[in-house]
Amino acid sequence: MAALRVSRTTLLRPVSSGARAPGFGVRLFSASAARTAASSLFPDEPAGPTVKTEIPGPVSKSYIDDLDEVFDIRSLHMLADYSKSIGNYIADPDGNVLLDVFAQIASIPLGYNNPGLIAASKTPEMVSAIVNRPALGNFPAYDWAATLRTGILKAAPPGLSQVFTAMTGSDANETAYKAAFMYRRQRERGGPQAAFTEEELSTAMSNTMPGSANDLSILSFKAAFHGRLFGSLSTTRSKPIHKLDIPAFDWPQATFPQLKYPLEDHVAENEAAERASLEEVEHLIQTFPRKPAAVVVEPIQSEGGDNHASPAFFRGLREVTARNDVLLIVDEVQTGVGATGRFWAHEHWGLSSPPDMVTFSKKAQAAGYYYADPALRPNLPYRQFNTWMGDPVRAVLFRAIYEQIQQHGLVAQAARVGDYLYAGLQRIAERYPDQVANLRGKDRGTFIAFDNPRRDEVLRRAKTLGVNLGGSGVSAVRLRPMLVFEERHADILLGVLEKIVAS
Ligand SMILES: Cc1ncc(COP(=O)(O)O)c(C=O)c1O
Repeated sequence: MAALRVSRTTLLRPVSSGARAPGFGVRLFSASAARTAASSLFPDEPAGPTVKTEIPGPVSKSYIDDLDEVFDIRSLHMLADYSKSIGNYIADPDGNVLLDVFAQIASIPLGYNNPGLIAASKTPEMVSAIVNRPALGNFPAYDWAATLRTGILKAAPPGLSQVFTAMTGSDANETAYKAAFMYRRQRERGGPQAAFTEEELSTAMSNTMPGSANDLSILSFKAAFHGRLFGSLSTTRSKPIHKLDIPAFDWPQATFPQLKYPLEDHVAENEAAERASLEEVEHLIQTFPRKPAAVVVEPIQSEGGDNHASPAFFRGLREVTARNDVLLIVDEVQTGVGATGRFWAHEHWGLSSPPDMVTFSKKAQAAGYYYADPALRPNLPYRQFNTWMGDPVRAVLFRAIYEQIQQHGLVAQAARVGDYLYAGLQRIAERYPDQVANLRGKDRGTFIAFDNPRRDEVLRRAKTLGVNLGGSGVSAVRLRPMLVFEERHADILLGVLEKIVAS
């Protein structure tokens, strides 16, 4: 198939993305910081997709049948050939090469077979990290602090200088929740020196009060997704299928504002929805029988359908949580690491004080939570602990990712390309308003989505036209390109989407 393109002249560049709220100590990634053009990263990247067979084609089908004998394949989107995937393009064993705008569920930051990351994987430091994996809580390498300071902590959100490293997004949230519970109880007990009572020690062993804090909770939002471990799953509210048959905590959920689009036509309604949501949060904090130790929120609800709220809403949430002495955990597992046009999405909000904890994973490749208050470290060792406690391999990789993001100005690029993509989609939405409905993500880099009444068909057709797309919620087409996605890739995506919605 020939590369699909729409002419640049038909896709006017937006003049400006408009004013953005100043963030708390916002990190600046200006375009001038780009010392090397990102487009030079993948000189061998194809000019466009190639679709040779149906997907899956005959070769993929035989591999899938083979895989099915030993592994559950029912969630499989496509079988990949990673040795042939490059930059923004994912290849399959039939020779099909697709523009990848899903990027392993928003988790590939810098393109397939990125030369800088391959180089980082061949250093003696990385080899040692792979073959000598430490149990980080007990036997960290002498230079673990240096590894953290030059990587994970260099990328830390403004104001948060400590990190607990974990394994996945769910684990990052789960451990952040545990930190919140222990923090709260420690304060109620009178500080880190206060001893546990005999009753606490014995009832903890039978999962009952007061040793087990069954009177505490984590407040999350309807349609939120925070993971699939027991605690994180209890705060996940996106789809019943994730939760069915699993014992869950009886924890409170508040309504996430359901904004109406276009935003400029629904200002008063949307403000009222956000106000109502904040009132509900405060009411639940004050009245729910199991008192929330923390509120957890995604900057943009991702799995739940790409639901946005305004910076003012999140500033309000910071105020409500602070006023009621409840921690604020911002789950940046999907929004973090640049795609929204800021390194951390919450930097868009202009908070007067940072969140208490920020969780991360996906594009960071490493996972964990950032925090500032030393009291969030429990009073005794082994209270927040496991064997691996993260992985130096992933920490070294995140450092290399962060360096490349800085070197190529990729956060500024995501903002610029996002504006371009949004403007292109807006033009398609004007012509096909029912097909590209509720376009959202303006001024949020490439973190863009829209609703389509036949969403799953759109995703299927996109594949036949050479684009790997993902969905979220019930009807959203969610765009999650990598940070190396440029205007020329946006042109291909827009061409494919226009072709689909026009037919
Ligand atoms: C916002 C958010 N939090 C947490 C998670 C869970 O991460 P993981 O699947 O790595 O456990 C996800 C995964 O999609 C997510 O999008």
